[in-house]
Amino acid sequence: MAEPLLVVQDLSVGYVQGDGSVIRAVEDISFTLNRGETLGLCGESGCGKSTLVYGLLRTLAAPGAVLGGSVMLDGHDLLAMHDEGLRKLRWKTASIVPQSALNALNPVLTIRAHVRDTLVAHGEFSRDVAERRGAELLRMVDIDPVHLASYPHELSGGMRQRVALALALLFEPPLIVMDEPTTALDVVVERSILRRVRELQERLGFAMLFITHDLALLMELATRIGVMYAGRMTEIAPVAAFRGGGMHPYTHGLFGAIPPAIGEDRIPTSIRGNAANIAAPPSGCRFHPRCDHAIASCSVDVPALTRCAPNHTVACPIVTGTDA
Ligand SMILES: Nc1ncnc2c1ncn2[C@@H]1O[C@H](COP(=O)(O)OP(=O)(O)O)[C@@H](O)[C@H]1O
Ligand SMILES: [Mg+2]
Repeated sequence: MAEPLLVVQDLSVGYVQGDGSVIRAVEDISFTLNRGETLGLCGESGCGKSTLVYGLLRTLAAPGAVLGGSVMLDGHDLLAMHDEGLRKLRWKTASIVPQSALNALNPVLTIRAHVRDTLVAHGEFSRDVAERRGAELLRMVDIDPVHLASYPHELSGGMRQRVALALALLFEPPLIVMDEPTTALDVVVERSILRRVRELQERLGFAMLFITHDLALLMELATRIGVMYAGRMTEIAPVAAFRGGGMHPYTHGLFGAIPPAIGEDRIPTSIRGNAANIAAPPSGCRFHPRCDHAIASCSVDVPALTRCAPNHTVACPIVTGTDA
């Protein structure tokens, strides 16, 4: 089998506080991503999804810092690379579509200037290329190329997210990371953008790391899903394995909380208690204070991700029968 595009091993990422202490927001996460596939990452707000992806691409701003682990992307050891090498890889090997394009787009630059600057940064600028490629990219995301002359604030939220997607496609990288790219949009705009993303993925073949707290959306979009809780991966498996609600008690809770579809006879349930405080996480399994199945050892032993079926791993000894 071909090498995976991305191999993340035991990655820990944290935030260094003023007093020198470190909040370990992402702890010991390992996963792989194959070329052309979509791994969806989900989990409650604050569980470390953004920290994980910005950390692994080394784009996390201070006081964020990678604390340990390794990241191989397309044969490059990202955590060992010098800044210059890393700069060359950005956009070309991996690009990011952020939650709010307003944060990613420069308010004083036109869309044309964004295309130009990114080409210049990679030594590939010529006026013709910028104009042609800019227009082509905007068409790919259903925006009229006249908007090359627009400033970000002149576009709607949905159009700005489309522009961010267009820029992420500039060099057609093999990996595109999407950090809740449509969370701030209404559901009609969201669906139309995601339909286009799927079409572009089929055409261009890029792999996606797609972050969202919307598990129902991932069931449609992803090839595999990784569920995170309080900085750790709790379950990772192909989408089909989640059709019955997954294996980990936390995954069950997430599925139970999905609002029922129209005509579906089900009352959504919530998970008792509050999300763990990442600055002072519970001992053992971080989910144990909220888990209906917890036994004494759950508050002591950190559960390892354990294989329970081909390609399906779960960090819960009760589920995998390894608690004896
Ligand atoms: N600059 C920071 N300093 C300290 N803690 C931070 C900082 N940024 C994020 N965190 C903490 O890291 C945790 C993970 O955040 P984040 O990765 O943004 O979660 P998610 O993307 O899943 O909502 C949160 O508990 C958050 O409070
Ligand atoms: Mg986030």
